[in-house]
Amino acid sequence: MSLPSTIAVDGPAASGKSTIGGLLAERLGYLYFDTGALYRAITCLALERGLAIGDEEAIVALAQAAQITITRPTVQDGRQYTVYADSRDITWEIRSPEVDAHVSPVSAYPGVREALKAAQRRMGEEGQVVMVGRDIGTVILPHADLKIYLDASLEVRAQRRYEEVLARGEEASYEDVLADMRRRDEIDSHRLAAPLKPAEDAIIVDTDHLSIEEVLSQVMALVEKWQPLEGGVDP
Ligand code: DC
Repeated sequence: MSLPSTIAVDGPAASGKSTIGGLLAERLGYLYFDTGALYRAITCLALERGLAIGDEEAIVALAQAAQITITRPTVQDGRQYTVYADSRDITWEIRSPEVDAHVSPVSAYPGVREALKAAQRRMGEEGQVVMVGRDIGTVILPHADLKIYLDASLEVRAQRRYEEVLARGEEASYEDVLADMRRRDEIDSHRLAAPLKPAEDAIIVDTDHLSIEEVLSQVMALVEKWQPLEGGVDP
């Protein structure tokens, strides 16, 4: 049985991409690459340096110069991977509410996306990778062997994110989480550069009424029934 070597998992915030992507990579023994971490790392550095998020030129210059590396986890503290900016571990900093609030406009700058593209492609082309993001199947790896688009309604995703925040012991109101999610969806889907949308050949999995185990088993079934294209990759 042959397995797909490059697997793209796209979808909106809190659709389950990281959880499913991580579990899938573990099952297959593949590298898990969460590309959102790159945009988060740039946002984190911009905030640390006091750059204005609206200063496109400065943010793009930062993205071009920054040395962001993502490796397998170096510490067993619940992380799925380790993120370095130069040699500094910023794995948890990129998850802060401040980064959450500013990452969508940063990721909408075409220059930022361009600066981060080559590194993503390189990782993808090595194969045996589950790559998770918004534009993996459409822009980064248009020839990925298997493209999955995880979807869920705004309300279900807001509820999941709200429960995650509470589980971390932080305070939040469901209404605030919902409003923030709606705002991010709006930016991610309507930006001009690589907007969030399923690739034409992506398989859409609606996760609204499914548990994590159910989504994973549907995705594993897609992996197992995958067939290589006759005559190799698309032109
Ligand atoms: O998946 P996430 O929440 O960590 O993503 C953070 C932000 O980065 C989100 O606003 C969308 C953006 N992003 C993107 O534009 N393209 C990707 N491939 C991954 C994330």
